[in-house]
Amino acid sequence: MGDITPCPDEAVKAAEAICGPVALAEITDRRGSAVWKATGAAATVAIKAGYGEGAELTARESAVLDQLPGYTVTSGRHWYVTPWLTGPSTWDLFEPIRNGGGAYERALCGAVDLCQAVARLHASGWVHGDLQPAHCIHTDHGARLLDLSWAWSPDFPPSPVFQGGITHLVAPELAALVESGVRPVRTTVESDAYALAGTLWTCATGRWPLDYDAGGIGPDAGPSARRAAIATGMLPLRSDEPWPTFQAVLQPVLRAPAHSRPTAAELASALGRL
Ligand SMILES: Nc1ncnc2c1ncn2[C@@H]1O[C@H](COP(=O)(O)OP(=O)(O)O)[C@@H](O)[C@H]1O
Ligand SMILES: [Mg+2]
Repeated sequence: MGDITPCPDEAVKAAEAICGPVALAEITDRRGSAVWKATGAAATVAIKAGYGEGAELTARESAVLDQLPGYTVTSGRHWYVTPWLTGPSTWDLFEPIRNGGGAYERALCGAVDLCQAVARLHASGWVHGDLQPAHCIHTDHGARLLDLSWAWSPDFPPSPVFQGGITHLVAPELAALVESGVRPVRTTVESDAYALAGTLWTCATGRWPLDYDAGGIGPDAGPSARRAAIATGMLPLRSDEPWPTFQAVLQPVLRAPAHSRPTAAELASALGRL
C-alpha cells in the first residue's frame, strides 16, 4: 500500500473560501498529482495538487487554465481549485454502446459536443495535447475539456518534458517526432484531431484503435517500441465494429496523413450528419 497523498492545507482553505466547510473525496492519485472532489454547502470544487515530479506540471496546468476562457481557477504554487464539473465523461457516455444496449443518439450528441469543444479550443489558438476518453465531462451546460497539463499556444510554449501523451492515441507523425528526440515536442491541431477520433473509437469499441498484434507488437512492448511501430503508419485499425457508421466517419481521421486529416470541426460536422 502506498502512502496517502495529503491535500495541501492551503488548497483546502481556498476551497472552503468558495464552498464553506468541505468534505474531501480523493478521485485519483497517480504520476505525481492527485485530484479531490471537495463538497461544501455552497459549492463543489475540484482540487488538483502536484507533488514530486508532478509539482511543476500541475503549476503549468494551473497557468494554462488561467489563460483559457471559461476556466475559473484559484491557485497556489503546486495546486489549483476549479469548479467541479458534474456529468459523465465521454467514456461513461458510451457505456451502453460498449455493452450493446443502444443509446446511440445520446452518445452521438456527446461525440459532436466533444468535437466542437476541441474545435473551439483550436479556434482560440490552443492545442490540448492529451485528449483521452476521460478528459471531457458532458455537463448540462456543454462538454468541458479536462487535464490541460500539456496544452500550449503561440503565447504559451509547449512543455520541454512532454513525451507525447497516452501512447495509444499518438498520431503517427507525433510518435515519430517523440522518438526522434527533438524537444520540445510540439503537438498540433492535426495530432489533436487524431487523438480525438481515437478517443471516440475507443469509447465505442472499448479497445484502443490500432491492431498491435497484426503489427507484431506484443502486450509487453514498452511505450518507445509502441510509438516506433505507430510512427510507421502501417499498423491497421482493429476490426471490431460495434457501430460501423460511426466508425466509418472516424476511420479517415485515423488513417489520413496529418496534412489531409479532417479537423475537429469537420469531424463534428460529419458526425452531426449521421
Ligand atoms: N473539474 C473537474 N470536475 C470533475 N472531475 C474532475 C475535474 N478535474 C478532474 N476530475 C476528475 O479527476 C480525474 C483526473 O483528473 P486529471 O486532470 O485527468 O488528472 P491526471 O493528471 O491524474 O490524469 C479526471 O478524469 C476526472 O474524473
Ligand atoms: Mg488525466
